[in-house]
Amino acid sequence: MIEAEPRMCVTSPCPERVRFGVLDSTLREGEQTPGVVFTVDQKIEIARMLDSIGVDMIEAGHPTVAPDVREAVRRIVGLKREGVIRAEVVAHSRALRRDIEDAAELEPDRVAIFYGVSDLHLRYKHRVTREEALSIIGEAVEYARQHGVRVRFTAEDATRADLGFLVEVAKTVYEAGADRLSIADTVGAATPPVMRRIVETIRASVPGLELDAHCHNDLGLALANSLAAVEGGASIVHVTVNGLGERTGITWLQQLAAASHVFYGKSPVNLADLMKLTSMVERYSGVMVPPNAPLVGDNAFTHKAGVHVAGVLSNPQTYEVIPPSLLGRTRSYTIDKYTGRKALKARLEELGVKLSDDELIKVLMEVKKASTARWISDEDLLDIVERVTGRRVKLQPSKGIEALVLVRCEPNIYTASVARRLTLIPCVTEVMEVTGDRDIVVRLTANNPVELNETIEAVRRVKGVTDTYTILVLRKLER
Ligand code: COA
Ligand code: ZN
Repeated sequence: MIEAEPRMCVTSPCPERVRFGVLDSTLREGEQTPGVVFTVDQKIEIARMLDSIGVDMIEAGHPTVAPDVREAVRRIVGLKREGVIRAEVVAHSRALRRDIEDAAELEPDRVAIFYGVSDLHLRYKHRVTREEALSIIGEAVEYARQHGVRVRFTAEDATRADLGFLVEVAKTVYEAGADRLSIADTVGAATPPVMRRIVETIRASVPGLELDAHCHNDLGLALANSLAAVEGGASIVHVTVNGLGERTGITWLQQLAAASHVFYGKSPVNLADLMKLTSMVERYSGVMVPPNAPLVGDNAFTHKAGVHVAGVLSNPQTYEVIPPSLLGRTRSYTIDKYTGRKALKARLEELGVKLSDDELIKVLMEVKKASTARWISDEDLLDIVERVTGRRVKLQPSKGIEALVLVRCEPNIYTASVARRLTLIPCVTEVMEVTGDRDIVVRLTANNPVELNETIEAVRRVKGVTDTYTILVLRKLER
């Protein structure tokens, strides 16, 4: 939970203070991602890591769904009881006695009961009138309270519900004993001003009720809507690691944390450990974050255009909203036809090469001629320097060691994304997805044993690679 004064405004007018924490739902909403299944042990590991970085609540699962979901909730409640974790543990439930009993008998800190409240959900899913819905919702909350747990009510599809009816729902659940109401933007249909107005209206109508924001990302607005909710007075934001969840998922933990740091000067969780968590959840979910994912994607702190790199070399803030070091990351820049003189000079100096201004321009012209190269490696750049200047700047020569690396991947990982990452490793010349007891074969050519070793290490470090077996090519018979 953080309390802070915003530095910049996301929505206007700017609130004087924000006060909020996070509920992580990677184990519940995250496991609703198509194709994602966590083992109970993986859930325990994720829960411990979430707790250690400081999330306030962990939504551990919906026990009625399946025996292993129930087992995970039971074990996570056990961790809380033993004092291993300190986050509040939440179990999910429909507004049904059976589900409530299934959840409450595990004795979590809180049961979260959901029920659709838009006319669309009332009519087509629940087939009840608004009045009937109010009584089902009120009874469910009271029933859970009788089991001695705290209760959150989740108003599913709240952002498409009639606001007057939503206020009635809020009053009903508060009177029935719920201390929190989650405003669920179930299909990601809200805009920030709408989200903020809903939160402010309910806060004004039922002041004792604390509000959660649960924002789906169908239109890419989950983070913006979550911040708007916080600025309107919501005190918990629902997130998942890597934005997992139904369809396109919900607010990313990493994005909310970094945005809080940028806009409010504080993050509700420890930023430095987010990369570890990102990789752990990538590995266990099999869903790789794309290179352009904010903050945690491979490209998040990699600059390309010459003008940008020149700015960054002078002051990184010119093109960065948050320093990579806060996330334990480093910045880099690529060399290709978009490169300018300053970037090229800096890169060559890093490689120990000093050129005259004339030589630098000539090398730059050559770099720009290689216009189809996706990027120019240091090795290729030094080749160009040698060609242009006639001076030897590289370690010599190297007859080239060719090797095949047989790679096995984790079973729940998309082999294609591992293969894609392998193609980015310098010295790798070919990547083949294959059948048999190995998943991928990598062909590489290294200049010397050190480079060979580094390349094999780089292959091993790729997320999703479990083990490698390397074969050196001794002789090739060409047809
Ligand atoms: N409260 C009460 N009942 C609800 C409800 C709610 N919030 N949401 C849906 N329902 C009812 C539906 O009306 C329907 O009941 P009906 O069969 O009487 O029409 C039923 O729940 C959902 O249909 P179905 O999934 O076919 O029912 P099921 O009994 O076979 O399985 C689950 C129910 C929950 C065990 C199963 O759907 C499941 O494992 N779901 C995963 C968890 C989930 O859906 N979570 C949503 C989180 S937002
Ligand atoms: Zn959801």
